[in-house]
Amino acid sequence: MLGDRAVNPPVVLAPMAGITNVAFRRLCREQGGGVYVCEMITTRALVERIPKTLKMVAFAEDEDFRSLQLYGVDPDVTAAAVRMVGEDGLADHVDLNFGCPVPKVTRRGGGSALPWRRKLFGRIVRQAVEAARPYGIPLTIKMRKGIDDDHLTYVEAGLIAQEAGVAAVALHARTAEQRYSGQADWDAIATLKQALDVPVLGNGDIWEGSDALRMVAHTGVDGVVVGRGCLGRPWLFADLEAAFTQGADYKPVLPMLGEVAKIMSRHAELLVDALGDEKHGCADFRKHIAWYLKGFPVGGELRRRLSMVASLAELDDLLGKLDPGEPFPVSELGQPRGRVNAPGKVTLPQGWLDSRDDDTVPEGAEMENSGG
Ligand SMILES: Cc1cc2nc3c(=O)[nH]c(=O)nc-3n(C[C@H](O)[C@H](O)[C@H](O)COP(=O)(O)O)c2cc1C
Repeated sequence: MLGDRAVNPPVVLAPMAGITNVAFRRLCREQGGGVYVCEMITTRALVERIPKTLKMVAFAEDEDFRSLQLYGVDPDVTAAAVRMVGEDGLADHVDLNFGCPVPKVTRRGGGSALPWRRKLFGRIVRQAVEAARPYGIPLTIKMRKGIDDDHLTYVEAGLIAQEAGVAAVALHARTAEQRYSGQADWDAIATLKQALDVPVLGNGDIWEGSDALRMVAHTGVDGVVVGRGCLGRPWLFADLEAAFTQGADYKPVLPMLGEVAKIMSRHAELLVDALGDEKHGCADFRKHIAWYLKGFPVGGELRRRLSMVASLAELDDLLGKLDPGEPFPVSELGQPRGRVNAPGKVTLPQGWLDSRDDDTVPEGAEMENSGG
């Protein structure tokens, strides 16, 4: 449940900057049920009504549970942004991002650095929950385990958020230092689930429907949040739905190359629609191509031409050269995709670790519309 919304199957598309726009969400929604979160929106840019940001808060008419992720470091600005979401009817659910490990964000005390400053974290979440309440908007948070193994925050932050009245807590079970490397620590998700009464959503390394079932069995979580696994594989949401409805004996969804090509073509069309013209739509689509074709035997020359595609007609022409009967490369199942970058020391503002109870709002920690 998210507020009074039953989420069935208990699956959430993770917010991914540059990916989970209205086009990608639609493609995924067509495959299966769940909650589909839009790209992260910066609170300050929202309250200042920056046109680019307002444009990103785009939902399709048939999105009946519009889920928006906000990033903020200032309790007042965050509350103002949540109020604006309620007043202007921009979304039905708000998630707050406390997981971004990008150095330019943590260096200023934002994203995954913030829960360490527990009083400030508590103020942001409390004020956001209060701002959301009159509109009946369920407010959730998404966080990491902590800054690094010596500075874990997730259980304490989860308890603070619960006390503040959040509808659920999602944990990406890595530290900021880990970025996207290594394996997510599902034991930490189990620990959080044990510690909290509010619903807990587990995130990290769900590549197949079967992984989601394993995570639920291992941790007892109320739902799963799926990020990189669906890159170039929107049908993962059909796979997840099959897993949750049929159980461990479900039949994995394994599209042949011809079906993949059809989905690629549709994805590009939706992006062209969303971004307004073929030039921008096709340019944005290029980043998805290698993910879609991962593991399929497609010649280097065709891959190269696809990676430069500039129009829908050209895309369909190139996709027509693929062998539609090529079976899905099962060796790719369960394999990481998307970002897997190496760990890196977390850059923090000076003195950040020394004073957990300092609740001064960090300077300059707002950012453009990007995240992680
Ligand atoms: C390209 C990309 C962009 C991301 N952007 C965001 C974001 O804006 N907000 C956020 O909370 N997490 C973001 N994440 C993190 C994911 O939501 C998710 O927590 C992470 O990928 C771990 O889940 P996974 O193992 O299923 O991929 C991003 C991840 C990727 C790969």
